[in-house]
Amino acid sequence: MDECGIAAVLGTLDYEIFVLTAAHQERRNGQIVCWVVPATIVPQLPRILVGIGRTTFTHELIEASRAFALNLLGKDQWPLVAHFGFRSGRETDKFATLPCERGVTGSPILPGTVGYLECRVRIVFDAGPGAHLFYLADVIEGKILTNSSPLCLHQLPELLPPEDLATMRRLLEQDARCNLALLSKSSYQQQTE
Ligand SMILES: Cc1cc2nc3c(=O)[nH]c(=O)nc-3n(C[C@H](O)[C@H](O)[C@H](O)COP(=O)(O)O)c2cc1C
Repeated sequence: MDECGIAAVLGTLDYEIFVLTAAHQERRNGQIVCWVVPATIVPQLPRILVGIGRTTFTHELIEASRAFALNLLGKDQWPLVAHFGFRSGRETDKFATLPCERGVTGSPILPGTVGYLECRVRIVFDAGPGAHLFYLADVIEGKILTNSSPLCLHQLPELLPPEDLATMRRLLEQDARCNLALLSKSSYQQQTE
């Protein structure tokens, strides 16, 4: 397998960056996500597919509420990548210093973003240990909030301070190592079954 060739092709893809928020009872939280794909061509029944790590605090809130909101960050909102993506809401209230409203699903809606979508979970696809969970959700509300251009993954190296960029790469490598160990174990088990 040509790992470099595969990485080169995948590296040409770019992803918009969202803060995915969810709430259940008095708990609320948000995390950065970039695996977000429109999943229907029918405008009357909009659906979206989102990949979420099974260990995040936000994932727990989605499971409890079966709903979430996707807040599409503008290019000038890059500081929120570290705020929502580098630590867990289990350790800190990420909304303590940030204003937000509640949407129709109860999920926090951030001001000043490009816009938001509110979603109710339809089906969860579980590819097993080490793989993200994929949530197929109905989009039930949405609104453009500003005319800023969306923040994308490929822009982060030029926007983030070097220490934030180093932290992001370290966290990504750490997660990839954990996932690789679990994925290798489960594919070994499948081969020997
Ligand atoms: C640029 C970037 C993209 C990310 N994309 C995803 C993603 O698509 N899915 C995901 O589950 N986590 C993603 N993460 C990681 C989570 O945002 C991160 O683990 C977060 O701290 C989880 O927070 P929580 O435990 O408060 O929910 C991304 C992080 C960064 C910095």
